Amino acid sequence: MSMRRHFILTASLILFALPPAVQAEAIALIGTGEVSQAFGPRLAALGHQVAYGSRSPDRAEIQELVRQTGDGASATTPAEAAARADIILLAVPWTAAEEVVAGLGDLSGKIIIDPVNPRVIAEDGYRDFPGNTSNAERIQNLAPRAFVVKAFNTISTDSMLDPDALGFKLSVPIAGNDAAAKKTVAGLVEALGYDAVDVGPVRYAHVIEGLYLLRANTRDVLGVHFEYQLQRRETAAPQTIR
Ligand SMILES: NC(=O)c1ccc[n+]([C@@H]2O[C@H](COP(=O)([O-])OP(=O)(O)OC[C@H]3O[C@@H](n4cnc5c(N)ncnc54)[C@H](OP(=O)(O)O)[C@@H]3O)[C@@H](O)[C@H]2O)c1
Repeated sequence: MSMRRHFILTASLILFALPPAVQAEAIALIGTGEVSQAFGPRLAALGHQVAYGSRSPDRAEIQELVRQTGDGASATTPAEAAARADIILLAVPWTAAEEVVAGLGDLSGKIIIDPVNPRVIAEDGYRDFPGNTSNAERIQNLAPRAFVVKAFNTISTDSMLDPDALGFKLSVPIAGNDAAAKKTVAGLVEALGYDAVDVGPVRYAHVIEGLYLLRANTRDVLGVHFEYQLQRRETAAPQTIR
């Protein structure tokens, strides 16, 4: 083999071995619970600028989270973290989500990723939707100039920490009104090791939010630890589902 051919072959192999190029983004993770602890370090390792937004950013455990995240990560107030960011991951309890978003300042042009699973406990013990509107739609209505994208609410923290935990590529459904914002979020989803599936505008977020109710009701009410997982299946001719 000529030197030139050898060089081209080697360069191609190196290029194909590299992960897909990820544009470095300033990402605010609002809340410092399980979801932020799982994704913060992984996003920083991908080269993103991570800022945790916390009600008390000086707490020792949050400073430790910042240290473990490394790569220039920081912790500050939710409003300050959001002001610095292009992308906001809203990792707070559903009961606090609207109040937190209302306190984040001007969100025009920013992407809000919403992993929130809203639920109320009915009198018979079942988990229900709290009202007729999804959390993602409520957030979109509250911040009409932001681009809300529902994502990550269907996966557990085990899979957030390790996308290969189940032994196959997990699909992450995303819903939102803005195509460019969904493309950016899909890029993040893919870079984190999942398969992003666009399921439509934000009005379909309630369908994905409902998947949480299936799991919570079978586990917490019926006592069966049921898990669903979404996996892409390519078929030659997609069949109509009736
Ligand atoms: N854990 C999961 O397996 C999972 C999976 C999918 C989706 N989700 C959804 O993702 C969201 C975050 O889940 P998580 O498990 O990370 O929750 P979490 O462990 O309870 O943490 C939520 C964080 O939100 C912040 N926060 C702000 N306002 C709050 C308030 N009024 N009360 C309590 N905390 C407040 C807190 O951070 P600071 O104290 O630093 O402010 C807290 O650590 C939830 O909406 C959940 O439904 C969770």
